[in-house]
Amino acid sequence: MKNEKKKILVTGGLGFIGYNVVLRLMNLGHIISIVDTKTTYGGLIDKEELDALHKERFFSIASRVTDSNHLNIYTIDINNPELDQLFQAEQFDAVIHLASFPRQKVVNNDPMQGSKAMSEGLLNLLELSRKHNVGRFTYISSSMVYGDFIDGVTEEAVCKPQGQYAIMKYAGELLVKDYTRQYNLDHTILRPSAVYGPVDVDDRVISKFMLNARENKPIRVFGKMEKLDFTFVSDVATGIVDATLSPRAVNETYNLTRSQGVTLYDAARMVSQIVGKGNIDVKNRDANYPTRGKLSIAKAYDHFRFDPAVDLNEGLMMYNHWFENNEYWQNKLNPKKDVIKVTPVLDLKNVTEEKRVKKIPAKKPVTTSKVTAGNIIKAKPPVTKKEPVKAKAKTPVKKKAPAKAKAPVKTTKTKTTVKKKAPAKTKAKAKPKAK
Ligand SMILES: NC(=O)c1ccc[n+]([C@@H]2O[C@H](COP(=O)([O-])OP(=O)(O)OC[C@H]3O[C@@H](n4cnc5c(N)ncnc54)[C@H](O)[C@@H]3O)[C@@H](O)[C@H]2O)c1
Repeated sequence: MKNEKKKILVTGGLGFIGYNVVLRLMNLGHIISIVDTKTTYGGLIDKEELDALHKERFFSIASRVTDSNHLNIYTIDINNPELDQLFQAEQFDAVIHLASFPRQKVVNNDPMQGSKAMSEGLLNLLELSRKHNVGRFTYISSSMVYGDFIDGVTEEAVCKPQGQYAIMKYAGELLVKDYTRQYNLDHTILRPSAVYGPVDVDDRVISKFMLNARENKPIRVFGKMEKLDFTFVSDVATGIVDATLSPRAVNETYNLTRSQGVTLYDAARMVSQIVGKGNIDVKNRDANYPTRGKLSIAKAYDHFRFDPAVDLNEGLMMYNHWFENNEYWQNKLNPKKDVIKVTPVLDLKNVTEEKRVKKIPAKKPVTTSKVTAGNIIKAKPPVTKKEPVKAKAKTPVKKKAPAKAKAPVKTTKTKTTVKKKAPAKTKAKAKPKAK
């Protein structure tokens, strides 16, 4: 299925890893649908920060729309039965399922909601996938399913997950495998670990190290010799896409990491060197987390040449560069200095998904909106240099007339179509199972 244009659904496609997966799929010219509610996980993630991240991710995606790829974004929950209409209309070749309560702390905050997303949401997607003959269901699991493990753990190791997050992830793996057994729905299961990089939220190990260093606060290390297999986000995204498109990866499970165990202390030292400040404060290890290390990725290399390219030091430098050039963080960390206005690839103020959605008359059952990336880019070319806020000229973005009601999916949820050129309307036709 590698060289053909595929219809692929990415759940959680506006999230940290999902967004990188979407970028890679777009580069390969696939037809992508994103389902994502842009959740704050019950207020756990700061709304202002998340809004800034979502805007950056959305407009970065929109700026990459070409004549040969196509993107629809649906703001709808993975639990919603109305997704049936989307599956019916699109006849997906593959589903890449990332939407989840994405770590232990988030699940602890609200285990019931966590279970809705991780169990009910997964079941809804599995049911729809088997009903509509999806070619491949890629389930993003986690290295946490192993529980305590020793360096070089392979996929054959017995899993002893600890904590609600890890247990529900592992239960998810079993469900996915059982849908293959019962209904012949092909799957691929992937287990990433400690993913880091630009456009992540501030609430993960490396993000916290980075931010504390930047603010010259102590970099807290819980367990000096605790090791994690830190993996740069674009490497994980490449692995997810390549596994999904690889015929060899049908009904297989893979570790998907950098395969280098680095102690938390060494990671903190690298961060403080790169940022140029930050003292390391070593505390006792957090007993709520299992003892981990590096994972073996020999199987993923053997089956689909998974070969992560970014070392921790290099990845940290890229992440640091992002912080230094990020409008939200620069303004937040240096409120009294000259605020820095950086990048947005497109003008964020005048063109937002939400504004366009509001233009649709309330009574219409279908809320569809179209953003033509070509128009937006023409109105405001990408800015790549830092510039003071005052110098920023307000360029009005050419407004596009509301989209005509001609939507393939009748859903009451919001849909944003991001495309450069209207593609020829093709009828969804029955497709052979992608292998
Ligand atoms: N980040 C890591 O280190 C890591 C490691 C191992 C596994 N994972 C797994 O990778 C996946 C993605 O994680 P991430 O780090 O990108 O997290 P993220 O929070 O950045 O992305 C998840 C996305 O899913 C969306 N989402 C959540 N619940 C939803 C629902 N019910 N309906 C629709 N959309 C919903 C969120 O809005 C978000 O955009 C998760 O399944 C996570 O468990 C992440």
